[in-house]
Amino acid sequence: MLRRYLRPRRRLPLWFILTVAAPFIFEVLVHLWSYDVPVPPRELDPPFSTTCQEPDTSAKRENAVLVMLTRNWELEQANRTIASIEKKFNQWYHYPILFMNDEEWDPEFIRVLNETSSGKATFEVIPPEVWSFPRWMDANAARKSIKAQGAKNIPHAGDEGYHHMCRFYSGAFYNFPPLKQYKWYWRLEPDVEFMCAITYDPFVEMARNDKVYGFTISLWEESETCPQLFRDTSDWKQYNSIPTNNLWKAMVQASWMPWPLRRWLSLLGHRDRNGDSWSLCHYWSNFEIANMDFFRTPTYQSYFQFLERRGGFYFERWGDAAVHSLYVAMAADPRQVHHFEDFGYRHDQLYQCPSNSINGQLPESSILNTGLGRDLGVPGTSTGIGCRCECDGRRETRNHPGYCLNKLKQPNSRKRPWLTWLL
Ligand SMILES: *[C@@H]1O[C@H](CO)[C@@H](O)[C@H](O)[C@H]1NC(C)=O
Ligand SMILES: *[C@@H]1O[C@H](CO)[C@@H](O)[C@H](O)[C@H]1NC(C)=O
Repeated sequence: MLRRYLRPRRRLPLWFILTVAAPFIFEVLVHLWSYDVPVPPRELDPPFSTTCQEPDTSAKRENAVLVMLTRNWELEQANRTIASIEKKFNQWYHYPILFMNDEEWDPEFIRVLNETSSGKATFEVIPPEVWSFPRWMDANAARKSIKAQGAKNIPHAGDEGYHHMCRFYSGAFYNFPPLKQYKWYWRLEPDVEFMCAITYDPFVEMARNDKVYGFTISLWEESETCPQLFRDTSDWKQYNSIPTNNLWKAMVQASWMPWPLRRWLSLLGHRDRNGDSWSLCHYWSNFEIANMDFFRTPTYQSYFQFLERRGGFYFERWGDAAVHSLYVAMAADPRQVHHFEDFGYRHDQLYQCPSNSINGQLPESSILNTGLGRDLGVPGTSTGIGCRCECDGRRETRNHPGYCLNKLKQPNSRKRPWLTWLL
């Protein structure tokens, strides 16, 4: 018996193996090559500003609004956010601020926030029929699923209100009647801090540079929140014959598995029907400056309706950040997306804070010194682009090269540490 196993087996000749394998290897290489993202010949998305500027308070404003969804008990956190954005930006520009709540407002909240806002403040209530399950959905089954997701410790997934919030920001938000009159929004959250002075009007720059979507931080989505989202999204993209652009490719990790085995991978989460996967990269939507008309198009609305029908806002915990990001990757040209890398921004424990521009602090500017005091923040560096940033020396930078929008950056700017974690 043993001898049989020990007997040297006849080997298949190498030429034979190579001949059989060659078409598969060739196919894999062509497949990988088809997802290659070429570095553009020039920077697609330079910062709007790399120094402080004299805020031009008489310039024409865009049709824009600052928005915050918050609750009465978050009075202090909401007030901190508004105080911060007023000090660093809105004291010069006075954009209106719209507060949204799923409950009646506490008069004290209105009194305090109205006083802290320099622009016109309005306080709106989201109607209960918007802040709930879709009418056709079995609410009991959805609640049961939410409970089960909570038991599995999927982040925020046990909280019914959080699901309503993600669904609201993904869909109804853009057609919320009090927002209808505006074209641009800047999304705020309670307990956000802006660490640098913003001395130009980002809405005007977004419009001037033909941008549709702006972000500060991008990172990976929690994978358990949305195993089906990418499959559904890529299916919808295919049904609607949406062409694949480089931003979409930058979000996809092409599979090394040879055809036809590759297609079996589509049974796993976060894969399209060909078996290629989403890198989970997404823009963190608690900060967004974007063109609402981009999301009011029939294309986006039909994408949202499709996702809505799939039930994943409740039977999984699809986040509006992932939904917005995948749509942006599908429908925007890469040069229409803007990274506000000159903004110092913190929410929860994640933040980015740029170093200051070395000769761009305008120490003699009377308008800046009146609004901010004479403190120029931390000393500048030669690659700094911030304006009077106060990063508290808490900076700890970690760079994620080669993924998401970063894949489309020039090689020298890719090295710039731009995603800062405080973990
Ligand atoms: C709200 O913020 C303003 C401006 O920083 C501050 O003066 C006020 O005391 C704050 N109010 C509350 C209730 O936190
Ligand atoms: C906010 O304050 C202004 C000035 O005191 C007042 O005219 C306005 O009615 C207030 N708005 C709200 C919503 O209370």
